[in-house]
Amino acid sequence: MKVSRSDLNQLIAVKLHKAGLSKEHADGVADVLVHADMRGIHSHGAMRVEYYAERIAKGGINTTPNFKYEVTGPCTAVFDGDNGVGHVAAKQAMDEAIQMAQTSGIAAVGVRRIGHSGALSYFVRQAAKAGMIGISVCQSDPMVVPFGGSEPYYGTNPIAFAAPSNDDRLLTLDMATTVQAWGKILHARSRNESIPDSWAVDKEGHPTTDPFKVNALLPIAGPKGYGLMMMVDVLSGILLGLPFGNKVSSMYHNLTEYRNLGQFHLVINPAFFTDPVVFRQHISQTMDELNQIKPAPGFEQVLFPGQNNDLIQEEYEQNGIEIVDEIYEYLVSDTVHRNQYDHKDPFAK
Ligand code: NAI
Repeated sequence: MKVSRSDLNQLIAVKLHKAGLSKEHADGVADVLVHADMRGIHSHGAMRVEYYAERIAKGGINTTPNFKYEVTGPCTAVFDGDNGVGHVAAKQAMDEAIQMAQTSGIAAVGVRRIGHSGALSYFVRQAAKAGMIGISVCQSDPMVVPFGGSEPYYGTNPIAFAAPSNDDRLLTLDMATTVQAWGKILHARSRNESIPDSWAVDKEGHPTTDPFKVNALLPIAGPKGYGLMMMVDVLSGILLGLPFGNKVSSMYHNLTEYRNLGQFHLVINPAFFTDPVVFRQHISQTMDELNQIKPAPGFEQVLFPGQNNDLIQEEYEQNGIEIVDEIYEYLVSDTVHRNQYDHKDPFAK
C-alpha cells in the first residue's frame, strides 16, 4: 500500500490524539514516525502507532507533561520530559541544545524521564539542518546478550550522528548497536519473513532465522558492539541518574507505568573549531569521494552513511510511502488499540 507523506502524517496524528495525546504532541510524534517511514526505517514508523496508542490509553505516557529545561553549566543542561512522549521531549531538547551551541560552541543536553523516542536520525538531523554536528544516544529495554553472556542485559542502545554539507545533503549515521534493531524483527514478523542467522539467538542461545523464535539480540561486532552499548547506557542512563542496564523498563512489561527512559544529545558548532564554510565543503567532498570509490564485486556504488535512506526518501517523495496493508487498515479504522501489547513477552509470538 502506498500512502502520501501528508496522508500518513494525518492518519497517525488522528489516531494518537484519539488515544489521548494532545493535538500538539500527536502531531509531534507523527512527524518523527513519518520521518522514519519516509526514509525506509519502517521499524520505527507507522508500525509503532498501535503500541503507542495502547500505552497512551492505559496511562503509561503522561499526556499532560510538564517539560522542564534546566541549564546546569556553560554548555550543559538537563531536560526533564516528565514521562511525556519521548519524540516531542527529545525534539525540544535538541532545539535547546542547538541554541546553546550557537554561543557556547558545544552543548550537552541530557533528556531525562521520557517515553520511547523513535528513530534518532530525526534529532541529529535537526542539528545538521542548523549547520551543527548532532550526536544522540538513548537507552532501550534490555533484550541483548552481553558478549559472552546468555541473558539479556543492555538494550539495542542506538547511536546517531549527523553533519551538514554545503549542499542540501546531510551526512547521517543512525544505528542500533545490535546487528539489527528489535523493530526489524517486528517488521520481519509483520511480513512473515525469515531473518539472517546473525541477528539473534533463540531460548537455548542458538542463532535463529525464525523471527518468532528470537529470545535475545546480538551486539554488533561481538565485544566492540557490547562496549558501545555500555557507553550509550552510561551517557543516557547512569549519567542522568536513571535506571540502567537490565533495570531499564521494558517496552511491553506494564503499559500503565511510565518508562523513565534517558537520551543524551551532544551538539558541536563547527565554527568554534574551524572555518564553518570549509567544514561544510569538506563534508560534501568526503561524501563525493566515498561515492567515487571503486565498488567491490556485487556492489553498484559506495554510498555515504545515510545515503541509502536518502535514496528511499527520494523515491517515496515521488511515488508515496510503502506501508504494510495491515498497518494501513488499522490506521484508517476506528480502533484505538486491540489490547495486544500489555504484559506481552517481547520475544513471544
Ligand atoms: P540500519 O541497519 O538500517 O542502518 C544503520 C546505518 O547504516 C544507517 O546510518 C544507514 O544509513 C547505514 N547504511 C545502511 N546501508 C548502507 C549502505 N548500503 N551504505 C552506506 N550506509 C548504509 O539501522 P538500524 O541499526 O536497524 O536502526 C534502525 C533505527 O532504529 C534507527 O533509526 C535507530 O535510531 C532506531 N532505534 C531506536 C531505538 C530507541 O529506543 N529509540 C532503539 C534502537 C534503534
